Amino acid sequence: MRTAIISDIHSNVAALQSVLAKIDTLDCDRVICAGDLVGYAAHPNEVLDMLRELLTIGIRGNHDIALLDPIESETFNEFAREALFWTRSVLTKENSNYIRTLRDQEQIDDIIIAHGSLLDPDEYIYSPFQAARSLEIAPCRITVVGHTHYPEVYRFEPDTGLCRDILVSEGEVDLEEGYRYLLNAGSVGQPRDGDWRAGLAIYDNEGSGKIELHRLDYDVHMTMDRIIEVGLPSMLSERLLEGR
Ligand SMILES: [Fe+2]
Repeated sequence: MRTAIISDIHSNVAALQSVLAKIDTLDCDRVICAGDLVGYAAHPNEVLDMLRELLTIGIRGNHDIALLDPIESETFNEFAREALFWTRSVLTKENSNYIRTLRDQEQIDDIIIAHGSLLDPDEYIYSPFQAARSLEIAPCRITVVGHTHYPEVYRFEPDTGLCRDILVSEGEVDLEEGYRYLLNAGSVGQPRDGDWRAGLAIYDNEGSGKIELHRLDYDVHMTMDRIIEVGLPSMLSERLLEGR
């Protein structure tokens, strides 16, 4: 079984199209998503129309929560808040109802999905120490998170509590028996590791298992132009090309 994993699409339809085209070539059986479908960019309905058809399972991220509950957006910066306010004004009823159906965590086979961490949907996991706090309570072999917009794989040894970073940005890694893994696919629509290309991960559970991290070109100028066209802050457009 090959599972494609996406996260943090943030209303970037050009990036999502590129990722889906790649998924078609990678012989995947299903697609799962770790949240933040909307926010920042300016194609929320196009993205949600596609995801509703496509996803086997998905969860909500902090931007999806704040879309439905404005009080949750009070801690957001002014640019993120403005994008959410605009998104709320254009979203179809079908798409806002879909977001309402999403939960904070889901489990499918040997994969548990959360947005930030297993402890808090708003926690950022940037280090092995932080990853270990989730992995020590993980009920599954694979924990999938998003939120940081950094593609990364951590490996945790339950017997010793040791955790380390084993893959960053792109490439593949063979999994071993006796460990738990935390996987962040990075961001489809707004990578922040200095590389503007969209992130995609594959978990293949054949044999002892394998994780692949892919980075994909897309028409970033189409997304940048649309952000300006609808009157959102230019900073949201410029940051895409800088991968931040
Ligand atoms: Fe995000």
